Amino acid sequence: MQDSDPTTQRSEPTPAPAGTPKPALMSIDDALGLDAAAVNRLAAAHMNPGQIATLKLLGFDRIVIDQAEGMHYTDRSGRKILDFFGAFGALAFGHNHPRILAARHRFAAEHRHELAIAFLSQYAATLSYDLARIAPGDLDYVFLCLSGSEAVEAALKLAERAAGPERSTVCYVEQSFHGKTRGALSVTDSEFYRAGFRLLDHVHRVPFGDAAALEQALRADPSIGVFIAETIQGGAGIVVPPDGYFREVRRLCDRYGVLWVADEVQCGYGRTGKFFAFEHEDVVPDVVTLAKSLGGGKTAIGAYIARAPVFLKAYGSAKTALIHGPATFGGMGEACITAIEALHVLYDEGLIDNAAEQGAHLIARLEALQAKYPDLVTDVRGRGLMVGVEFADLHRVLPRGTRALAGRFDERLKGGLAGLVGALLLEEHGVLVAFTEYNRNVIRLEPPLVVTRDQVDTMVDALDDVLGRGFTRIAMDYVRRVKLTRT
Ligand SMILES: Cc1ncc(COP(=O)(O)O)c(C=O)c1O
Repeated sequence: MQDSDPTTQRSEPTPAPAGTPKPALMSIDDALGLDAAAVNRLAAAHMNPGQIATLKLLGFDRIVIDQAEGMHYTDRSGRKILDFFGAFGALAFGHNHPRILAARHRFAAEHRHELAIAFLSQYAATLSYDLARIAPGDLDYVFLCLSGSEAVEAALKLAERAAGPERSTVCYVEQSFHGKTRGALSVTDSEFYRAGFRLLDHVHRVPFGDAAALEQALRADPSIGVFIAETIQGGAGIVVPPDGYFREVRRLCDRYGVLWVADEVQCGYGRTGKFFAFEHEDVVPDVVTLAKSLGGGKTAIGAYIARAPVFLKAYGSAKTALIHGPATFGGMGEACITAIEALHVLYDEGLIDNAAEQGAHLIARLEALQAKYPDLVTDVRGRGLMVGVEFADLHRVLPRGTRALAGRFDERLKGGLAGLVGALLLEEHGVLVAFTEYNRNVIRLEPPLVVTRDQVDTMVDALDDVLGRGFTRIAMDYVRRVKLTRT
């Protein structure tokens, strides 16, 4: 490999013993010493050059984070950034929760084992018990893996086996996001992510939140044996279905003998004010997926939890048990003890109730902003701490005659008042929010569940300050503060 970054400091190569020579590798200390420009250069050469253009547009490429604690990142200059992004819901506990860190340190200090391939793992067994205790009904069987995509992938395979070969068509919903592995992508409603890949063909799409359309599909196509949906859609721009939708889904799935897989990778784990978002409707799916915050913000772990008869039908015998058993790293020791301690913190600190309380306050304050700036903010929606703020299309807010201006900043900003606002929130107020690929007008707010009322007020006050300038000044300030200050 050519040296992509000759300006980067390297640690002195240690004299190698005889044998395979050690390449001029960068070390941990080298990594910790990199500035923003060097990180960008390495990422451009070895990771994903195209991604950097988007980060530049938002001014995110200039920031190197050195520390993170609770609700805040701290950058190289010591500036604190308030995290209302929360890694798309993966940071229920904020950053580096002390109890979760302590559990991990203890595990390492005791030299516990990680890979439970030869012997069963007491940590994986305990975590599975805890998840089954939390899950309602007979959601009793837990599969542990490493990511949301893998959990969805495994849940779809489980459901397909339990449904049987005659019922292998999977019904999914419009604007869904379930991950980027091939099975999960096959039920993800995005031409952008699908990008022409060859995917599963036994799928059927229906509108989200429309029980009549689901019934029509189930009646018309008896090969549909599985229905998958996020309980609240994240990637779509925070879409909450009408009240009663999932009660109808449950009734229809029972009536037509279809297995319902609830994807709660983003909306689950207490974020909406209940551990599972489907609990708001007092129903139980056949399989539920979790990931993101399950790892306490410190480790990669995903899971599905399946109803006992479904799991046992698919994999219940000694002959079928290992068809889709955990892979090498599924249920690793440190991941499991992290997840076990995180579940205790979730309840001990009342974080599910805090999500409900702070979420209600956040939504009420944002609705007041919508009333104050009806031309700029077109919708506020969500449940608990899963909140979307939709902004007007640029063509609606630009003064007539200047609409071509938007295209001059950058093609990608055309639909994006949300982008301008988000960039200014970060640049001027140190507040980080998340964007949405499917609907670029939506800013997603999924702060850690440890957020306080004061921090909610800080975030909303910052948004008020930006919106109060009106569109023209927002655009000018963006150009002045974010675009023109580039080195
Ligand atoms: C609802 C949902 N399902 C699945 C996934 C995929 O999870 P991962 O990124 O861990 O593979 C995501 C990720 O954003 C998600 O939001």
